[in-house]
Amino acid sequence: MCGIVGFVGRQNPVPLILESLKCLEYRGYDSSGIAVLDKGQQLNVVKASGKLQNLVDRLDANLTSDTGEAIQVGMGHIRWATHGAATDANAHPHLGTNRQIAVVHNGIIENYYLLRETLMAEGRQFVSETDTECVAQLVEHLWEKQTEQTLEAFRGVIRETVDQLQGAFALVILNKAFPEHLFVVRRHAPLVVGQRPQAGNQMEYVVASDTVAIIPHTNQVVFLNDDEVVELSPEGMVLMTVAGDILEPKVTIVDASPLQIDKKGYRHFMLKEIHEQPDVIRNSLSGRLLHPEAPIELVASDQSAKAKQLLSQANHLVVIGCGTSLNAGLVGKYFIESLAKVPVSVESAGEYRYREPIIDEHTLVVAISQSGETADTLEAVRLAESKGAKVLTITNREDSTLARESDVVLPVRAGVEVSVCATKSFSAQVVVFYLLGIALAETRNTVDAARLTELKGELMRLPTQLDAYLATAPEPMQDVARQFSHHTSLLFMARGINYPVALEGALKLKEISYIHAEGYSASELKHGPIAMLDDTMPVAAILTPGPLFEKVMTNCQEAKARDARMLAFTSATLDDSMVDMFDAVVPFPDTDELLSPLFATVPLQLFAYYIAEHLGKDVDQPRNLAKSVTVE
Ligand code: G6P
Repeated sequence: MCGIVGFVGRQNPVPLILESLKCLEYRGYDSSGIAVLDKGQQLNVVKASGKLQNLVDRLDANLTSDTGEAIQVGMGHIRWATHGAATDANAHPHLGTNRQIAVVHNGIIENYYLLRETLMAEGRQFVSETDTECVAQLVEHLWEKQTEQTLEAFRGVIRETVDQLQGAFALVILNKAFPEHLFVVRRHAPLVVGQRPQAGNQMEYVVASDTVAIIPHTNQVVFLNDDEVVELSPEGMVLMTVAGDILEPKVTIVDASPLQIDKKGYRHFMLKEIHEQPDVIRNSLSGRLLHPEAPIELVASDQSAKAKQLLSQANHLVVIGCGTSLNAGLVGKYFIESLAKVPVSVESAGEYRYREPIIDEHTLVVAISQSGETADTLEAVRLAESKGAKVLTITNREDSTLARESDVVLPVRAGVEVSVCATKSFSAQVVVFYLLGIALAETRNTVDAARLTELKGELMRLPTQLDAYLATAPEPMQDVARQFSHHTSLLFMARGINYPVALEGALKLKEISYIHAEGYSASELKHGPIAMLDDTMPVAAILTPGPLFEKVMTNCQEAKARDARMLAFTSATLDDSMVDMFDAVVPFPDTDELLSPLFATVPLQLFAYYIAEHLGKDVDQPRNLAKSVTVE
């Protein structure tokens, strides 16, 4: 939520900052803004509510010039609104009253109101409703009180500011007194510094909330930890703790290839990412499942001993996540319990972090997060760790805070997911849960080898089947989507391991079409939701062959008897009388029931996509959402 960028170097910062902000659009798109110091050392600030393009349209080409020699500093921000509406005034950067200090911020300052009152009493004039403005005002206020305005004094100002702030923050701070410097600090919000060596031992620096915004400029990065401050200038980087202890920056070379972003001819990133799923599944399996008869190689050899130890001592898995990741975790629960006979609890991170969970040395926390930066998931994991739990993280971002704070990391390898609505990352997460479940079953001998071989074989065949399905499925889906797009509410139901898929189908539809949707276990239909059914509220049933097929069919009959329009997503062969019950039937390939979520989810993603597209919604950037929720 919110993306921040900073730049120090010998080039016009504006195009570079805009390019980086473009990469951070997934974090919010309510407004954006940019601040640079011009040659006369005046702070130039341009902001615009709405999409980043509005800022681009508003920017004066002469905002700053590329002298090629002078050192230039600048900062940019893309906002997901928390405090105050998406207006120009609330857009970042925020300034102190005397325009001495500029700040961009990602996070929430929880005690902003008190700080604001105090600073207003001191004569500071606030012009926005944001929590962030109090940071700019506080820094400026403390700076103006310094008798000697030295770099050392400003370090003290930052220290004092951080001491007074409660909440989460990643901040880039510019002080006009140091026109060749940027100051950067983080607590509970991500921040990465990229460095680009220049001639004469000088450096250029790009700071951003995420590596994706650094990669276009350099692959040398330094990940910051909580309560670390960085001073950046062409002379170098000074990394220290908030308390003032100097640290040695650890430069990591990141692999640029998985971070490249391209629509590849698709109309939307979401559609492209749906179509990438066969390859994503191949990637997730690669090197881990080599042959149906070979044991699973879950992690790289350097982590193998640690992973084995964690898995062998666990007698209870606690899966923690949010949103789509939580749904993937639920699929994992059905799979792991069925195969490996290990009890699995699935916990919404936002709830877990404020509970008093019971953890012992045999509890293994499995943190699941596409971004690895979700604030609730991070805090839930920290709580569990503080009580002695070991943490295995399943994530799409090996460079994330969550990955860095975990004992073992299982990358899902979905590649960059740009669309706010998660699709391919869900499939990749489910695959990793399958691998984890099979690995546990193998080491615990809970299932006979022939059954595991059969499952592994099916899993290896699945991407090719999914390729074939995706070659033909989208076209008929457009028609089905049109038939249901005028409804204002829809109910998805399923049983067993596809119950989480019903939740995921409803979530996809809500997120991008703004149609109300709920996912239920079909067994719950009679316990409430059936009261809502009539001809205005369709029911979408996910039907797979297996012991619960007849049960779901009975629930379909019950819904039909209440005049609900009926939609079947099915891998079963329906006889004519069954087909007659449905207004539309969407087939998907059949496979082992335990693996069926990997197929069943895809038509639901396409259904949501084509409804949203038909309704003319902003598919990749749905209103009010952000891809990475870095605040509570
Ligand atoms: C946001 C996103 C969802 C995502 C959830 C959890 O709500 O819009 O798509 O599932 O966060 O994110 P994570 O990165 O932890 O998987």
